Amino acid sequence: MAPNLVFSIFRLNILILVCIFLSNVNSREVDDTLVFTVATSETDGFLRYQRSAIEYGIKPIVLGLGEDWKGGDNIRYRPGGGWKVNLLRNALEAYKDDTNRIALFTDGYDVMFLSDLSSIIDKFKKTDARILFGAESSCWPDAGLESLYPTVESGKRFLNSGLYIGYVPEIYKLLTYAPLKDENDDQLYFTHAYVDDKLRNQLNFKLDSNSEIFQNLNGALSEVELYQDSEKEYTEFKLKNVVSHTEPLVIHGNGFSKTKLNALGNYLARAWTPEEECRHCRWGHIDLQKTKDAKMPVVLIALFIENPTPFLQEYFLKIGDLEYPKQKIHVLIHNNVKYHVPHVQEFVEGYGSKYLSLKQITPDDVVTESNARDLSLDLCVQKECDFYFSVDSLGHLDNPHTLRLLIEQNRTVVAPLLVRPEKAWSNFWGALTQDGFYARSHDYLDIVYNKKRGLWNVPFINTCYLVNGTLLRKYGRTQLNYVKGNLDADMAFSGNLNDLDVFMYVSNRVEFGHLINAESFDTTRTAPDMYQIFENGRDWAARYIHPEYPEIFNPNKKPLQPCPDVYWAPIVTRQFCNDLIAMMEAFGRWSDGTNEDNRLTGGYEAVPTRDIHMNQVGWEPHWMLFLQKWVRPIQEHIFTGYFHDPPRSLMNFVVRYKPGEQPSLRPHHDSSTYTINIALNEVGKDYEGGGCRFIRYNCSVTDTKAGWLLMHPGRLTHYHEGLLVTKGVRYIMISFVDP
Ligand SMILES: *[C@@H]1O[C@H](CO)[C@@H](O)[C@H](O)[C@H]1NC(C)=O
Ligand SMILES: *[C@@H]1O[C@H](CO)[C@@H](O)[C@H](O)[C@H]1NC(C)=O
Ligand SMILES: *[C@@H]1O[C@H](CO)[C@@H](O)[C@H](O)[C@H]1NC(C)=O
Repeated sequence: MAPNLVFSIFRLNILILVCIFLSNVNSREVDDTLVFTVATSETDGFLRYQRSAIEYGIKPIVLGLGEDWKGGDNIRYRPGGGWKVNLLRNALEAYKDDTNRIALFTDGYDVMFLSDLSSIIDKFKKTDARILFGAESSCWPDAGLESLYPTVESGKRFLNSGLYIGYVPEIYKLLTYAPLKDENDDQLYFTHAYVDDKLRNQLNFKLDSNSEIFQNLNGALSEVELYQDSEKEYTEFKLKNVVSHTEPLVIHGNGFSKTKLNALGNYLARAWTPEEECRHCRWGHIDLQKTKDAKMPVVLIALFIENPTPFLQEYFLKIGDLEYPKQKIHVLIHNNVKYHVPHVQEFVEGYGSKYLSLKQITPDDVVTESNARDLSLDLCVQKECDFYFSVDSLGHLDNPHTLRLLIEQNRTVVAPLLVRPEKAWSNFWGALTQDGFYARSHDYLDIVYNKKRGLWNVPFINTCYLVNGTLLRKYGRTQLNYVKGNLDADMAFSGNLNDLDVFMYVSNRVEFGHLINAESFDTTRTAPDMYQIFENGRDWAARYIHPEYPEIFNPNKKPLQPCPDVYWAPIVTRQFCNDLIAMMEAFGRWSDGTNEDNRLTGGYEAVPTRDIHMNQVGWEPHWMLFLQKWVRPIQEHIFTGYFHDPPRSLMNFVVRYKPGEQPSLRPHHDSSTYTINIALNEVGKDYEGGGCRFIRYNCSVTDTKAGWLLMHPGRLTHYHEGLLVTKGVRYIMISFVDP
């Protein structure tokens, strides 16, 4: 690494030398240039500004840091204020006679540098102005002054005071041409100077109408584009103004354009480059891996179950499995769903005592979602938490390191990217429409599909996020809460964070987890999660497919064969078996075991059993998918050369063998190409006797295991009978595949 680094620094130096010789800027001029900004606190926007400055070797002088803002209450949409002007005037006082010295002023919360200072100075000198201000398309704050503005040949006509550059003596004159109170509007002050022909000419005061240097974004959103500049030895994203055909060097997300700046800022100033990917991820990153448990930050984890949610037990297991000292975690659970009370109870009994504290808000407490979320913020402050971590029931944290990794990222608000598997549905929005609703950003799919990994500043997050506790204490509940007009709680929270200029980052640096789809979850059914094979296939398989299922495909193992051409393999979990039995018993309408069967097209069954068909419990499509995804591959593996995808099967049913009802089944052939027979409960425990005997081979399988499947050819060779159950109840699941 080292020689490479030396070499590239060497190359960079040559490059800089070449640049300096080519331009009319000398290094003395660059070194002498004063760069100013005003910021009273280190907001996320200010940290971004600073990072961009450091990236290009610019060292701004920050005025006002730590002081109370005195520039009026206009700070949100325009960091306006005469105070800025007055601070700057005082700072320039000492240099006011320095004819050749240049000063650059930018706002601090919504600005980024896109180049080094020598390029900026070079372009400035080419304008022949002594003062150059950025321009914008609207005349603000006094539209009445519009007619006084000189016309322009191209580009923007009106002054914006967020970005300007000039020689110090002229700037100083501009800052002192009239008195200005701290709380008065600085843009108006500068506008009056500009529209005064005499003063403008005297100061050689110009506007950067075509964004040679300064790009004010408001009113120009569609004029700018990112492009990849690969002229240097590394590629970086730069900004191009496609209307003026310029490459602006300083960008200002003024007015309502800050969301756009946030999106551009994910790439600009080398935040993300094709070669190094997320460079700004490393900015401020902390390492907690060696931190002792006792020294870890205190976290309040707030869990919200607002709607019936599939796979909630797994959600809780993943919360419980987070690799983080539980003695540093307070837990608050808001459960709004009666159906989930036992699931919550299970978690509380299993883990509750291990946490620093655990508080529950139950359905009986009748607390609305917004209120519960507000209360959780209060509780965090009350517990003097370092971090607030909110996880809704839809968010599965598959990565047990999620909490630590998010803390280490050291951002005010950061969410782990969660996506519905194989879908483009995630827990963030890349962009907003004018009225604040969902819009897709250019990079949304790249992020969701992990084609680009990094840390993305976005306008909306939900489901799971970490908030630095300092923020909660800084703003209190009146400003930071889950209420905003008629908006949903999550929209309200993101909206309030946007209003406070707090950045919301979403990270996909590693896999963190995924989203559950709860849209069709019907808790009036018995075992409703069993019906989620389509909507939540991954979770369904994790819960219901036997963990040893893949073993049948292990090339080093021979499939088990208890009888000739009868194969035996684990396929579903014990929970699958229990849930399927529960579904059948809750339905309860077992057939009567006679030859008349009006469920069949012919109305006649030659070898009747006591059974319930899958379609009687609304589970036929689910079963067919199960056959296709998990049974068919076994068939293709053991009976090679036969392909039928998807498998067809008209007869899918659960059989109940029971003494006194129907304890056995006489010998018969199945009308299938192959048959599967899944044991749903345990011999010796749930029943005695039972099993399946293949008569031609005089071979019986009696020690069946719950969740294991028997697969055998249907016609001709495998004439078989169901052996007598002598005690208890035996359940099996049968399918006649490809009849
Ligand atoms: C974490 O971020 C804060 C700014 O929010 C910064 O002051 C601090 O230095 C960062 N921590 C580390 C270890 O870099
Ligand atoms: C939370 O944010 C504050 C302010 O940015 C920072 O100083 C502090 O280090 C952060 N807290 C933790 C525990 O990282
Ligand atoms: C079938 O097998 C059983 C036990 O393995 C044996 O007792 C019986 O004699 C066999 N029957 C025939 C017809 O071979």
